Amino acid sequence: MRFLIFAASHRPESVNRKLAKLAARQLQASNLAVDFAEYREFDLPLYNDDIYGKSGVPASARIFGERAAGAQGIVISSPEYNWSYPGTLKNILDWTSRMKPNPLAGKTALLMSATPGSRGGIVGLTHLKTPLEAMQIFVFPKVFPLGYSEKAFTDADALADARQRQRFEALVEEYIGFTRKLSNGG
Ligand SMILES: Cc1cc2nc3c(=O)[nH]c(=O)nc-3n(C[C@H](O)[C@H](O)[C@H](O)COP(=O)(O)O)c2cc1C
Repeated sequence: MRFLIFAASHRPESVNRKLAKLAARQLQASNLAVDFAEYREFDLPLYNDDIYGKSGVPASARIFGERAAGAQGIVISSPEYNWSYPGTLKNILDWTSRMKPNPLAGKTALLMSATPGSRGGIVGLTHLKTPLEAMQIFVFPKVFPLGYSEKAFTDADALADARQRQRFEALVEEYIGFTRKLSNGG
């Protein structure tokens, strides 16, 4: 099985990127293939129906769609912006949704979020489920909201708290099983 993994943040020191990297490392340790994307690879103009009508889906959205199509699962670690998820991510999803056939149909998704506050971006993740489900993705019912993100990682970018580390690893393991079931072993 193959997984497309990315964080919805452009910041080089992004805590969501650290979380996405942790998932990538665990999947690789389980001998699963990982396609780790940097968010800037999917930079796009704002969705515009006129541009779509005249020139179709832009190249970076098509690249996103093709990379997602080549995977069984998509792991997204997203910051929370104003109690929701970033508009840039909605924009990527909106452009991708104009591709035919839908490259995301039947994929699974694991959602994670790291924020400096106590709730760890849980509200943003709840919002993010909706467009993914509209695009026929099987969103794993459990999510990983990581609060107090500035203190959550060790210098080696591992989760500092042992219980949190166990919870994260168990979640990724369960998600692998979920994806295996839904993609007939991939
Ligand atoms: C426009 C904007 C809105 C934000 N709104 C929230 C919010 O609603 N809840 C929250 O916990 N953090 C909020 N934050 C803080 C982000 O969660 C924080 O910057 C996050 O750590 C960024 O993730 P990154 O390190 O992966 O870039 C907001 C940040 C920005 C730039």
